[in-house]
Amino acid sequence: MKQNIIILGTQWGDEGKGKIVDYLTDRVRAVVRFQGGHNAGHTLVIGGEKTVLHLVPSGVLHDGVSCYIGNGVVLSLDALRTEVDQLEEAGVPALDRLFISESCPLILPTHIALDQARERDKGGEAIGTTGRGIGPAYEDKVARRAVHFGDLNDREYAEARLRSLIEWHNFLLVERHGQDAVDADEIVEGQFALFERFAAQCTDVARELNALRLAGERVLFEGAQGTLLDVDHGTYPFVTSSNTTAGGVGSGCGVGPRHIDYVLGIVKAYTTRVGAGPFPTELFDNVGVRLAERGHEFGATTGRARRCGWFDVVFMRQVIALNSIDGLVMTKLDVLDGLDELKVCVAYEDSNGKEVDWPPGTQQAFQACKPIYETLPGWDADTVGVTNWDDLPDNARAYVERLRELLGVSIDIVSTGPERTANIILNDPLG
Ligand code: GDP
Ligand code: IMO
Ligand code: MG
Repeated sequence: MKQNIIILGTQWGDEGKGKIVDYLTDRVRAVVRFQGGHNAGHTLVIGGEKTVLHLVPSGVLHDGVSCYIGNGVVLSLDALRTEVDQLEEAGVPALDRLFISESCPLILPTHIALDQARERDKGGEAIGTTGRGIGPAYEDKVARRAVHFGDLNDREYAEARLRSLIEWHNFLLVERHGQDAVDADEIVEGQFALFERFAAQCTDVARELNALRLAGERVLFEGAQGTLLDVDHGTYPFVTSSNTTAGGVGSGCGVGPRHIDYVLGIVKAYTTRVGAGPFPTELFDNVGVRLAERGHEFGATTGRARRCGWFDVVFMRQVIALNSIDGLVMTKLDVLDGLDELKVCVAYEDSNGKEVDWPPGTQQAFQACKPIYETLPGWDADTVGVTNWDDLPDNARAYVERLRELLGVSIDIVSTGPERTANIILNDPLG
């Protein structure tokens, strides 16, 4: 049996990770977030009812499933409270299912203020962050200034660290960004008040995951963002501040690489990106508008319009290698219904006019790449909700098969709608 399975995004996020994690969760014991924070927006649709999760793992709607937030996640207790309140109002006993690592670095209101102030000051050079304080919180983690969730158990220790951190943030806000200083007392008291609500959730996640492994239980590791937003391997500097790739699981929740049994990549049947940065196959014509409309390509966290473009095999080759992807889920095939023809980027022409089949390493070189396309015929039929491979139009099957051939990796599931059940299973990724 495949026991520990990573599910992660292979593009620039919003591939449909939440839907697939939720779908597979009826056969697992736990779901773990290992990086990112409430910059994520994962959408689940069950019987037409939509739930959007930001911090809480996408297994939370299932009874008997434990949801872990690993140490690699930067934690806004304020955002967590809002999310848990919403779930509980909807009748989901979220708190009972949730466990949080004592080592999660906290996102304070000042991290959010700094993130937004910086983006404003950058003007046209802005990254287009979600404004959730993610970058500043990870900086403080690496600089060894962060306050951990579990630190709040010790009032004296945590208060001293919180005050010292807020003092540093106020220096930056006032001296660098020309803003007013924030009231440290209010933030300190706010964090302790929030901690009371979540104190019982505080645990050693790595230890619990080890125990689940020894007990033979199956666990899903739910990535946030996507591979091209990885701080090391993505389109730097237009990236997030965490390791979104498979390697992030080891550092982000303490499960070693030899205990991972399968890496499942989620990929859209086309490409989208929110925020600034290079995007070789981006469409600026009516086809792009059509994909955005039919795919409802508006951010689940910020509501921003997502940029849309054709499928890119070139960066996917790299993404498959970086993550040691075993299989893919191709989502949103239905969004391509009704197009006359489809383009697939099979190579780039680099700035020297040379054809390359792997993305160049630097930002400037990647920005200069032009896509070289292969054209495939489209299909007319409506594929929304199709669950049998044989019920797909011939050209839709040919599109998926051509991509499988170009990528050289199994396509385990094809997703044909936002509903939990709108899936064609070609190869069961849970084994
Ligand atoms: P995530 O961040 O990777 O979990 O993805 P998001 O939830 O941000 O964005 C994916 C969007 O596509 C959501 O609105 C999903 O409900 C929707 N979705 C997921 N799979 C499919 C699919 O196969 N077809 C269609 N039409 N929509 C899908
Ligand atoms: P999910 O998990 C898409 C993008 C932002 C911005 C960059 C940095 O729903 O796929 P940050 O706030 O992280 O510092 O922003 O990363 N970004 C996402 N794009 N989906 C996400 O999450 C994202 N999380 C961050 O738009 O370009
Ligand atoms: Mg999303």
